[in-house]
Amino acid sequence: MPKNKLLEKKLAEAKLGGGQDRIDAQHQKGKLTARERVHFLIDEGTFEEIGALVTHRSADFGLDKQKFLGDGVVTGYGNINGRLVYVYAQDFTVFGGSLAEAHAAKISRIMDLAMKNGAPVIGLNDSGGARIQEGVVSLGGYADIFYRNTLASGVIPQLSAIMGPCAGGAVYSPAITDFILMVENTSYMFVTGPNVVKTVTHEKVSAEDLGGAITHATKSGVTDFATANELECINSIKKLLSYMPQNCEEESPVIAYDSNGDECREALNGIIPENPNHPYDIREVIEGVVDADSFFEVKKDWAENIVVGFSRLAGKSIGIVANQPANMAGVLDINSSKKAARFVRFCDAFNIPLLVFEDVPGFLPGTEQEWNAIITNGAKLLYAFSEATVPRITVITRKAYGGAYDVMNSKHIGADMNFAWPTAEIAVMGAKGAAEIIFRKEIKSAKDSAKKLKEKEAEYEQKFTDPYRAAARGYVDEVIKPQDTRQKLIAAFRMLKNKVDKLPRKKHGNIPL
Ligand code: HXC
Repeated sequence: MPKNKLLEKKLAEAKLGGGQDRIDAQHQKGKLTARERVHFLIDEGTFEEIGALVTHRSADFGLDKQKFLGDGVVTGYGNINGRLVYVYAQDFTVFGGSLAEAHAAKISRIMDLAMKNGAPVIGLNDSGGARIQEGVVSLGGYADIFYRNTLASGVIPQLSAIMGPCAGGAVYSPAITDFILMVENTSYMFVTGPNVVKTVTHEKVSAEDLGGAITHATKSGVTDFATANELECINSIKKLLSYMPQNCEEESPVIAYDSNGDECREALNGIIPENPNHPYDIREVIEGVVDADSFFEVKKDWAENIVVGFSRLAGKSIGIVANQPANMAGVLDINSSKKAARFVRFCDAFNIPLLVFEDVPGFLPGTEQEWNAIITNGAKLLYAFSEATVPRITVITRKAYGGAYDVMNSKHIGADMNFAWPTAEIAVMGAKGAAEIIFRKEIKSAKDSAKKLKEKEAEYEQKFTDPYRAAARGYVDEVIKPQDTRQKLIAAFRMLKNKVDKLPRKKHGNIPL
């Protein structure tokens, strides 16, 4: 056979993965193949494959008679919206996408290239886990990847899409990466599957209920996104990347922005309800302030009492953290603290400025919270904000009570600017609770205790529940009308553009994990 023909034959064989029958089976499950996924993900004509002719080297359990070019994973590099990325896509048609020595080495290789060249890695996972026939080398291969994931953390963005099974120890690579995206109904993640669960705990649960996209998007918070189908998942990866820099030394891409003189947003004036105990949706505030259609929410359906996500202000990427008064009054609890802390750390690692909207009545009381360590978990958010050196601005829209005032990016923990709306209430606690404690004796001995409480409540409210005491001390830099928020933020982030701030020299800190 002429040499070129042999090459063409081999490449055609590699493209077929585990063969047409298995490709058809993959399609029948409503799933794309690894190559189809790469095709939709990477800009047309830019994908360059690496290692298409790699095969395994095992002879156990008849493997010597089953060799597939590429060994069950497509690896390479290409562009997404013109920017370099490295990608690996597990091919379920070859040994169920299972991972073994050669397969793992291919993934490690592109991760090494990504680290040396400072570009994101995207993993498209669809795998039956460790290749059972290859035994311990499969485990070694996983560990090689986990190790690289960890070293790459904070250096280059790492994104994991789960597009099929991801079970056993295999889940720990996505878990270490920055963002996880899952596809509804066709993907699942768990450490032990339904059969083991049944044997050990006698619980009967389906794979979907145990570890499907909706489960992880609503119950565990393991996934950042649950997408309706694979194309939506791929498009979400592209969108997510658009807010990020290529690596920790660079800035995020900037989109050309023309103000058109519309920075004044009067609609913001009408969002805070008359009654301070009534809820409102903080997303209305976010969307009223940021560039049109630029808000991209992360972990939308988990710990909904805090809203986090990427956005743009005058064309520049920012990360937003906002208490959500429409859910549990916006209280901070274990899950919302963890959700926000992880997001803050991602933004800080990748030079994305932080904008905080604050309306928080405090930390959630109760045994459930205390026994599950709200102390340790709340401290995560405090720590994450405190060590963040990116430009950081807070806007207090309404309540800023108690320890939560300190935690939510106060100036005391390093925020660069703190704005408050005239509706802001900055105090140690709500007026009623405060009056009950400090005027307890007076209220108890009064003829009409209820009336006295009301009086004292009003007195406390008048003294503390506004932004002016905090402004007098400079804890709040400026009290602004809601309509001016956008303009003030654009100006302040511009002013902070060249901010340089360094943490004390250390090996690394010890975040309360
Ligand atoms: C080798 C595997 C495999 C594996 C699947 N296949 N998983 N081959 N090692 N781990 C092969 C099947 O033999 C089959 O080959 C093809 O992939 C498709 O599998 P099916 O079972 O036909 O597909 P489906 O019905 O969709 O079921 C998918 C599945 C199931 C749920 C993933 O295959 C499964 O349960 N596999 C085993 C999962 C597992 O126990 N893995 C090890 C986990 S321990 P043919 O030739 O018929 O196409 C682990 C530890 C990691 O991962 C630790 C890291 C630290």
